Amino acid sequence: MPAYIVMGAQWGDEGKGKIVDVLAEKMDFVVRFQGGANAGHTVIHGDTRYVTHLIPSGVISGNSVNIIGNGCVVDPRTLLEEMEALEKQGVRITPAKFIISPQAHMVLPVHRYLDKLLNEKIGTTVRGIGPAYTDKVRRTGIRWERACDGSFAEACREHLDFLEKVYAVIGKEEMEKLRDGIPALAATVERLRPFVRDARPLLAQAVKEDSNILYEGAQGTFLDIDHGTYPYVTSSNTSIGGAYTGGGVFLDFHKRIAIMKSYTTRVGEGPFPTELFDETGEKLRRNGNEYGATTGRPRRCGWLDLHLLKTSCMINGFNYIVFSKVSCLSGFETLKVAVDHDPDGKPVYEALPGWEEDILGYTDFATLPENCRRYIRFVEDFLGVPVGMVSTGPDRDHVIRRRPIL
Ligand code: IMP
Repeated sequence: MPAYIVMGAQWGDEGKGKIVDVLAEKMDFVVRFQGGANAGHTVIHGDTRYVTHLIPSGVISGNSVNIIGNGCVVDPRTLLEEMEALEKQGVRITPAKFIISPQAHMVLPVHRYLDKLLNEKIGTTVRGIGPAYTDKVRRTGIRWERACDGSFAEACREHLDFLEKVYAVIGKEEMEKLRDGIPALAATVERLRPFVRDARPLLAQAVKEDSNILYEGAQGTFLDIDHGTYPYVTSSNTSIGGAYTGGGVFLDFHKRIAIMKSYTTRVGEGPFPTELFDETGEKLRRNGNEYGATTGRPRRCGWLDLHLLKTSCMINGFNYIVFSKVSCLSGFETLKVAVDHDPDGKPVYEALPGWEEDILGYTDFATLPENCRRYIRFVEDFLGVPVGMVSTGPDRDHVIRRRPIL
């Protein structure tokens, strides 16, 4: 059964958008199963740059049906803005091409407000993700099904009444503002109503018919609420388990694809054993243009951590690696990779020789500098998972295909 899943192997921002875009062309279905507008996937076609936060990247090219699954949390205003921006860039989004699960939860303005007030320590994207999932698990959230039954505004009022009792921190003035905002929000939700429909029967049928299905992960494995560096994580299951609860139907992923950046980055707070605070880290940030697609924040940068990645492979059962941003490693005399962590959690490094040549846009593995090939082989040997594809630049053609992915 040709079902594929793409997941971030580290802390997000591994370059999933580009690979999903390359794959999506051949897909019948593309599914988001967790997260919300905290994600930012950048896709570049020639001179055009598309940034999606919520909508599966499959809408940009190809004829796939794109589904926001029940495991996601969706902000109506952000979604509408994103749809309008994509339409302006010539991407047509119709209810036949794009579906929102009625069981997905809404991210409301109050969630954004609470995120800012309560989650500073985590360094969140302030998109309201944590508070929306809190409502889901507390069983006080609003699901997208309310967009269709005419009860959305009433549900919002009840929701705010409830939150007013729970959170003194919101304050009277803000509460009034939030209540005043309900009619405009209801109008936005109304515009999105045609896209809300149960996609599970469609997906189940697609599985039966051996259609090409792609699940598009957001964030990365170590931001997973269970497996990540808790509490410095997001509020969903970003690893493979999330796909089963958040997509809607059972399917057997025959390709479990790790998008693995050839060094490490992280945004927000939390542990990062191989982080570099010196000129080398600065150089990685410069070479890789490491600034958040969602928040614009500079990303923390450091060496590749194979010790952590071993765990990531174990959790997700990866059987294919896309090794990304390798072109950003040119010009380092030595490249370090962590092969272990000592009892204090400090990385134990092995040093590999670097390369000088600019390899931007290379498409042939054999023409890569010897030391670059050695670096890639070291990674796959250590992890026991083949590097099937190497990304050598931002464009969709900047890719070395070592093993077929489809
Ligand atoms: P939240 O998902 O906005 O609640 O943020 C929780 C943590 O996950 C913070 O450290 C964020 O910086 C991080 N995070 C959330 N989404 C992304 C992403 O798409 N890429 C990288 N980090 C993310």
